[in-house]
Amino acid sequence: MLVPGASSQALAAALASELGESLAAVEYDRFPDGETLAAVPGFDADTATIVASTASNDAYIELLQLQDAVREAGAEDVTTVIPYMGYARQDKAFEVGHPISARAVARAVSTTTDRVVLVNPHEDAVADFFDAPVDIVDAAGQLAEPLSDLHDPLFLSPDDGAIDIAETVRDAYGDGETDYFEKVRKSGTDVEITPSETDFEGRDVVITDDIIATGTTMSKAVAVLTAGGANRVFCATVHPLLARNARTKLCRAGIERIVGTDTIEREVSAVSVAPVVAPVLER
Ligand code: R5P
Repeated sequence: MLVPGASSQALAAALASELGESLAAVEYDRFPDGETLAAVPGFDADTATIVASTASNDAYIELLQLQDAVREAGAEDVTTVIPYMGYARQDKAFEVGHPISARAVARAVSTTTDRVVLVNPHEDAVADFFDAPVDIVDAAGQLAEPLSDLHDPLFLSPDDGAIDIAETVRDAYGDGETDYFEKVRKSGTDVEITPSETDFEGRDVVITDDIIATGTTMSKAVAVLTAGGANRVFCATVHPLLARNARTKLCRAGIERIVGTDTIEREVSAVSVAPVVAPVLER
């Protein structure tokens, strides 16, 4: 039985369809003081697969509530799929006195599940913070599906850390080169991008990354490419968080299109990760 978190309803339905399983009836409510209530009235299955991205604090609480609710209703086997894991980038105590937030949330999630499934977490090492077994799914290849008729394509990562994603998307597309820029984070939200020596004039460039959050990284890379004569510039990301004015920044920089998956359900979620997550759930 698939149990959707409020912000992962389309993906949970897609997974239910892939797996031939049913979707639980869920209710999401909020008390006058702001506290959330996620519930599964009538739930009576032995196994539960909760699907809940945690792009907000409320989503984390709802996930914990759904885990507790299915256990309370008698589920003996609980799997927790976190398509987008919030706080995963806070994987170190960056200053004295800071928490390792990814570890704190992972521990909380681990208490009421038998297994966890993550999709392209920022670093795979985040799996070590969970006290339950973790499977990691690489869904980057799905990003090639909405792309077609690219001219002399270049799949580019805005920093060397995301080159694997560029290579995976290129391989799935079946044609093109890969390359990466250098990125230095100057402050919390400001980055400096240094281009490579690859010639991108007249080419279609697909910039790939695990996440677009504020859009700063992508928009700076796009600006370099458009100023240098690239033909069309696409942004492809597994997790289209698109916080605050990210979309406007990218449009102003001159992008052709943003392509994302449904780990975070946005207007740009052109492709589902369900076909690559489902086989892991069947194991
Ligand atoms: C960082 O290493 C990540 O891969 C992304 O490049 C980063 O999180 C994107 O953040 P923003 O959109 O805020 O620049």
